[in-house]
Amino acid sequence: MKIAVIGAHGQLGSDLMRSLGDDAIGLTHAQIEITDPVSVASALDAIAPDTVINTAAYNLVDKAEQEPDRAFAINAFGPLHLARHCAERNLTLVHVSTDYVFGQDGARTTPYTEADFPGPVSVYGTSKLAGEHLVRATCRQHFVVRTCGLYGRPTSVGKGNFVRTMLRLAQDRDELAVINDQHCTPTSTADLASAIVSLLQTDQYGLYHATNSGSTTWCQFARAIFDLSGIDINVTPITSARFDAPAHRPAYSVLDSTRLIAITGLSLRPWRDALAAYLSSAGESS
Ligand SMILES: NC(=O)c1ccc[n+]([C@@H]2O[C@H](COP(=O)([O-])OP(=O)(O)OC[C@H]3O[C@@H](n4cnc5c(N)ncnc54)[C@H](OP(=O)(O)O)[C@@H]3O)[C@@H](O)[C@H]2O)c1
Repeated sequence: MKIAVIGAHGQLGSDLMRSLGDDAIGLTHAQIEITDPVSVASALDAIAPDTVINTAAYNLVDKAEQEPDRAFAINAFGPLHLARHCAERNLTLVHVSTDYVFGQDGARTTPYTEADFPGPVSVYGTSKLAGEHLVRATCRQHFVVRTCGLYGRPTSVGKGNFVRTMLRLAQDRDELAVINDQHCTPTSTADLASAIVSLLQTDQYGLYHATNSGSTTWCQFARAIFDLSGIDINVTPITSARFDAPAHRPAYSVLDSTRLIAITGLSLRPWRDALAAYLSSAGESS
């Protein structure tokens, strides 16, 4: 099997390249521009894969509020170009989406299933939801995989992630204020890559939720990062209103992965165990 991984130097892309081994052919941003159908066709036809995995995205949630055209170009129309390409050639397309397609239900306290009606509260979430719809409507052989709070080890320097940001901030502060009213599930890209590899062993196309198990808040996540890293720092809980970020985020966006488990038999480990494994692997705490 030949699998093209788009976004190969990003967090998830790098772990997919490691998990897929010889089956994977990576495409970096320098090698494919998903907003350009000509680039999509020439990069993918040169490889002639059986499967395409799209991890590329416009992920700057706050900046997207000021750049909706760019967010939609990359998160909605890019996936449409890929879906058309795959549909025309009978290829399987894996497209990665986000828990930020939810959020409008401010009273929610139970994990969202794939059957729940989405309702994003940001430009980023809306652009990702549009991308999901365009993929599902265009390419029958699709896996759309929603995930949450990713951290991993990108090949490129990248934009960082919450874990790296917390460890960097702790180097010159003895107190940090972190949001405690957004509930989610931090997810290791190494574990998400395994879930995607397992899904690809099946032909059960469709929409899936895939995260590590359990849930927490960003504040409790930060405390776990410092606890597991042996860093003594005071973490103060604050509200989203006090943090006042440009983009709204869901107060609760925990995803239910029951469908993934039923189809693949794979249950991703608790988020804290995955975090401990990530932190203990070489070079991560620097
Ligand atoms: N990060 C999270 O917390 C999170 C949470 C939920 C869902 N997700 C979703 O999970 C997926 C993977 O996220 P990630 O954190 O692994 O992303 P990432 O580390 O930012 O990697 C994305 C990669 O895609 C490339 N890329 C960006 N725009 C491109 C374009 N127009 N054409 C081709 N390549 C492009 C980037 O290259 P350059 O850097 O060179 O532009 C980067 O290497 C995304 O779909 C994201 O929406 C992420």
